[in-house]
Amino acid sequence: MKILSIETSCDDTGVTIMEATGGMTNASFKLLADASNSQIKAHIPYGGVYPALAKREHAKNLPILLEQVLKQAKISDHVAAWRPGRQVKPPVDLIAVTYGPGLEMCLWEGITFAKNLAEKWNVPLMPTDHMEGHIMSSFGKVKKNKKGERKGTFKIPALKTPLLSLLVSGGHTQLIVSKKWMEYEIIGETLDDAVGEAYDKVARMLGLPYPGGPEISKFADMAREQATKKQFSRGVSQADGPRGSATRARVDSDPGKISFSVALPRPMLHSKNFNFSYSGLKTAVLYLIRDLGGLEKLTTEMKQAIALEFENAAIECLIYKTAKAIEQYKIKTLIVGGGVSCNEHLRKEMKKLIGKKITLLMPQKELTGDNSLMIGIAGYLEYIKNKKKVPPLHSIKADGNVKL
Ligand code: KG4
Ligand code: ZN
Repeated sequence: MKILSIETSCDDTGVTIMEATGGMTNASFKLLADASNSQIKAHIPYGGVYPALAKREHAKNLPILLEQVLKQAKISDHVAAWRPGRQVKPPVDLIAVTYGPGLEMCLWEGITFAKNLAEKWNVPLMPTDHMEGHIMSSFGKVKKNKKGERKGTFKIPALKTPLLSLLVSGGHTQLIVSKKWMEYEIIGETLDDAVGEAYDKVARMLGLPYPGGPEISKFADMAREQATKKQFSRGVSQADGPRGSATRARVDSDPGKISFSVALPRPMLHSKNFNFSYSGLKTAVLYLIRDLGGLEKLTTEMKQAIALEFENAAIECLIYKTAKAIEQYKIKTLIVGGGVSCNEHLRKEMKKLIGKKITLLMPQKELTGDNSLMIGIAGYLEYIKNKKKVPPLHSIKADGNVKL
């Protein structure tokens, strides 16, 4: 069946059409058309997502993207032939739309658009969970063709359970156990800021633009590279700092040594549960910058060292708790998803942790951020799981805080 999926939960608008077949555990997908619009540029002046602006951008872009995907999937003629009352087969068989979690005013934009289409074409509408989408994004395999269009075919592989999902994004940091495929139990989550949110806030403190994740990551990589070079040339080890809760900075004027090192805390690393906390780490960076005389006093090298230590601390917490959950729940498959799963350091550390012990799935980098392809996969699978039943249109509502 043809499924059209829509994502508008934050600052990315996406519309995808896929051909989907098969059941919950063996579904196959063929990507027919995909179009998206990132609003990053529009939000840069605000230093983060400005919800009212995001809503307006979604409203503007949805009809444009729909037209693009209908053309790409070669079904626009079919749509053009459609008129109210005419007996024409609908251009798609199912619509999936993100209903939460996310920014409610943005979610409503997608939902209202999807409801209108569902009504007009008389097709079922499946409200789809954004976080379930991030889990499913690991299965997507896409490649751009010569025209720059994303294409690809992929299927849900046979997965061993219990399965653990680590979801890391701008709004979430969650560890979710699935004892059975598509059944979810949140075993741990952040008690305050999400890890992506901490990246974004620390970037802002360092004067780096929104979204901060990729910027911090670039700065951290530069410091890592420098540290490796210096280690090789002088045999001096990078001062990684103690693992205590104190924030420390050391400025060394001896040009023969690495001149700046910092130590940041690893909040809740040894707590007896699977929860996380990123607000304290963010505040530690704030105090550190203050103690160093403020942003204006920071050299690029200092900013890079702070970014590196922040990233090491943030990722160490994720790795540590994931390892603990794998052991305790006898996990056989690990999925890592969400915007932060694009982070190279996280990906490397995860691969190092897992080795060949269990199956590790991470999305292609281009599918780590918010996208409508993942909503299509999750929407289709939920439709099959629910024996092709969907809730009545009028009951479908945005839920900004819904939990899997
Ligand atoms: O999943 P996503 O696109 O949107 C939400 O659902 O929140 O995640 C966005 C988050 C942002 O906080 C962004 O800074 C972060 O993912 N991010 C990264 C990287 N790329 C994006 N964080 C760390 N390293 C990256 N390379
Ligand atoms: Zn997301």
